[in-house]
Amino acid sequence: MHSLKVIGRRYMSPVLKHGMKHLGNQTALLQIRSLGDMSDQSFWNSFYSNRPGDKVFDWFVNFEDVSVYLEPHFHAVSCDDFVRILDIGCGTSDFSLKLFEHLNRKCRIDCVDFSFEAVKAMQKLINERELPVDKTIDLKESFLCRQHLSGMACHQADAKKLPFGDATFSLVFDKGTSDAVLKGANGESAFAEVVKECFRVLKPKGKFIQFSDEPPELRINLLESVKSQKAQHCMKENCNMTWVWRELEVCSGFQYFMYVVYKSVPVSM
Ligand SMILES: C[S@@+](CC[C@H](N)C(=O)[O-])C[C@H]1O[C@@H](n2cnc3c(N)ncnc32)[C@H](O)[C@@H]1O
Repeated sequence: MHSLKVIGRRYMSPVLKHGMKHLGNQTALLQIRSLGDMSDQSFWNSFYSNRPGDKVFDWFVNFEDVSVYLEPHFHAVSCDDFVRILDIGCGTSDFSLKLFEHLNRKCRIDCVDFSFEAVKAMQKLINERELPVDKTIDLKESFLCRQHLSGMACHQADAKKLPFGDATFSLVFDKGTSDAVLKGANGESAFAEVVKECFRVLKPKGKFIQFSDEPPELRINLLESVKSQKAQHCMKENCNMTWVWRELEVCSGFQYFMYVVYKSVPVSM
C-alpha cells in the first residue's frame, strides 16, 4: 500500500503529491477547500447551474474506466429477466446511460440526486436519448409490470431517505456521492444513513457498489461501524453485510477505489 497523506478526508497518492509540487502545495490545498461544502445541496445546485446544464460531467472515473471491474457483477445479474438498478447522487454523469446500453437495455435504472439542477439536466439527457420510463408510478412498489421495466428515470431525493420500497434493486451504484456526504460536519453519521438506506432498498444477494477516492484504511472502518449498527436489524432480516474492495488502475495521478458491499443471505443447511 502506498503511503498516504491526509487532508481532511481526502488522501493524496505520492504520484499526485509529486505533481502538486508544480502548483505549490498551498495553492492546491486552497483549490480543494475552495470547492465549498460538498455535502450541501446548495453547493451542488450552484455547481450544476454554473455548468452548461445539459452537458455530461463525470466527477472522476467514467464508465469505460471501470466496466472491466464491473463485468463479474453484470454476469450475475444478466440471468435475471429485467434488472432494477439505482444510481445515487447521479449528478450529470453519463455512467448510468452507458450502463443501460451496456446491459442491452434489459434494465430499469432509477437515478437520484438531491440537487434539482442535476436532476433537471439528467432527465433532459434521458429524454434526449429517448429512454424515459414512467416516473409517476408508485416508487414504493418493488414489483413493476413489464412496460415500466426498460428505461431510465431521474428523481430528486436525498440518498439518506430514498423514496423506494424495501428489496427493490439488484445493484446500487454510488460514484463519488458518499465521498461528498462524508465532507459534511456530521459526515460519518450521514454516511451510515446512506449505506443503511441503500442496503434497505437492495434485494437479498444485491450489491452496493461504491467508487471512491477514500482508501480502505478509512472506508472499511466506516463500513464496520455501519455493520455493527445494523447487526440487530440484519438478524431480523436474516441477511448479512460483507464487502470486498480493490484499487482501480486509472491513469490520473489520483488513487480511486471500488468497494462492493454484499447483502448476503445465509446458505440454508
Ligand atoms: C462528487 S458528485 C458525483 C456525481 C456523479 N455520480 C459523478 O460520478 O459524476 C456527488 C453527487 O452527489 C450528490 N449528492 C451529495 N449528497 C447527496 C445526498 N445526500 N443525496 C443525494 N445526492 C447527493 C451531489 O448533488 C452530486 O451530484
